[in-house]
Amino acid sequence: MVSNKRVLTGIQPSGTLHLGNYFGTMRQSIAAQTENECFYFIANFHAQTSMPKPEDLRARTHQVAVDFLACGLDPAKTVFWRQSDVPAVQTLAWILSCLCPLGLLERCHSYKDKVAHGLEANHGLLAYPVLMAADILLYHAQYVPVGKDQKQHLEVTRDLAIRFNNAYGDILTIPEPLIQEEVAVIPGLDGQKMSKSYNNTIEIFAEGKAARSKFMKIKTDSTPMEDPKDPDKCNVFLLYKLMASPEEVAKLREMYLAGGMGYGTAKQMLFEKYTEYFAEARERRAYLMEHPDEVEDILREGARRAKAVADETMAKVLAAVGL
Ligand code: ADP
Ligand code: TRP
Repeated sequence: MVSNKRVLTGIQPSGTLHLGNYFGTMRQSIAAQTENECFYFIANFHAQTSMPKPEDLRARTHQVAVDFLACGLDPAKTVFWRQSDVPAVQTLAWILSCLCPLGLLERCHSYKDKVAHGLEANHGLLAYPVLMAADILLYHAQYVPVGKDQKQHLEVTRDLAIRFNNAYGDILTIPEPLIQEEVAVIPGLDGQKMSKSYNNTIEIFAEGKAARSKFMKIKTDSTPMEDPKDPDKCNVFLLYKLMASPEEVAKLREMYLAGGMGYGTAKQMLFEKYTEYFAEARERRAYLMEHPDEVEDILREGARRAKAVADETMAKVLAAVGL
């Protein structure tokens, strides 16, 4: 993890957050807050590329804010805002568009994948990485924590920043991606990557009976109850390792190796660990759900702080390009 840097990331409000999101990126972003100057925003402009219903987009944007705050995003430390509340990002995106060769965007895997999956090849989808570059460059981010899937978009960002600086002078900061290579892909219920597109997720804030039954559905092999089991090949154990203390992990490892334990026991232990691990976050979330105005105030204050930085960048950019 870096320190004393400006760290920025965007979070798409595209669905309910799950353990893959939490252990894959959220946990690191939240940990980065103590030693860095963090700028985190909810990418609601980007979410429009999937054409959500207006009421869904609004509700999901609010819910992602609640969930990040509940998980420990500290608005006293981190600038946290809604992308659309600082519209200057669109002006910068336009200026960058005029420097951006079409081929650079046509080569993006994420664009090609989405079109291959049947999304309409519209301009928003193609221009997605230019808006993402504007997000990053507007705030002079030095490091951008993202999943591996976003690495190419960071390359586009760097390329556009270099083109801009070559044309108009050294104004934009060239960012580095912060990719957590050591964080394995978190498996879902069926063992493949946990993802809302695969319908195999365990939500961070699953509730009541439905939550327990999710854990009971995690796929395991058919080793009989009395036989020893390999913990390192088991998704239940892998998830347990993310949440339990080293002593607890060692104890469950012994239980696997000794035999005589059914997977149901391990699943129950995992479920209890998960309940305990997110208990505080769950309390904070319940409070925030009852106080939507406080969440709104946090986002507004974040937008005010973000705008102060954006205004400074834009004054330089506009003067440099002759606008
Ligand atoms: P989904 O696959 O559910 O659509 P997103 O693409 O919205 O998830 O992911 C948001 C962030 O969470 C990305 O940075 C992504 O790399 C990370 N992430 C999502 N699922 C996982 C997973 N199973 N393991 C690790 N990281 C993940
Ligand atoms: N494209 C990112 C994702 O899907 C979200 C995002 C938008 C972003 N703008 C950004 C991430 C700027 C980092 C920096 O996860």
